[in-house]
Amino acid sequence: MSSATMSLPSPSEIKEKLQTLYTQEQIDEQVSRVAKEILNDYKDTDGLFAVPVLKGAFMFAADLLKKLDSITIETEFIRVSSYGTSTKSSGSITAHNITLPDLTDKDVLIIEDIVDTGRTADWLLKFFTNMCGARSVKLASLFDKPCRRLENLKEIKPDYSCFEVDDKFIIGYGLDYQQQFRQLPYIAYVDNL
Ligand code: PRP
Repeated sequence: MSSATMSLPSPSEIKEKLQTLYTQEQIDEQVSRVAKEILNDYKDTDGLFAVPVLKGAFMFAADLLKKLDSITIETEFIRVSSYGTSTKSSGSITAHNITLPDLTDKDVLIIEDIVDTGRTADWLLKFFTNMCGARSVKLASLFDKPCRRLENLKEIKPDYSCFEVDDKFIIGYGLDYQQQFRQLPYIAYVDNL
């Protein structure tokens, strides 16, 4: 554990400070809206390839994909990380054992929980565009936090996004604090973290 991590509040202290940002109903409404946009855009596609990015996107991806049941989708999970147990991005992306099939003639839809500095999204978009030979690559994200985008990544923008948020520390519905709280069915925030 780094000294930076040691100075952070413990998960039990955080638990006391949780405030609801979005309820389950509000999340469902936005996931349904995004699902409709995706269904409309991909209605003529025969090769949609969904890539939920673990760990944070697992809950959003599950709910989103259930609402896309009328189209044919191949799904493969990948895991990348940049934050570890810290609240600040380490600045480097770690990809964990990515193995993918041939994506020629596939339309890739990356499913993320949040685009923050934009580093992970930039890495993923470049990886699928340059390395995997996909026909198209788009990004769906539960959250977009444009105020945190790095100066050189301002052009990074999810094609589909449920919520745009300001610089709050948010957890729940897949997003963690020190690997905890991912199971919350709602989105919470903590002031002054
Ligand atoms: C989070 C999140 C995104 C990324 C966004 O991942 O899931 O992948 O950070 O941040 P960025 O825009 O600054 O790159 P994290 O490293 O916390 O891993 P996790 O999904 O396993 O929690």
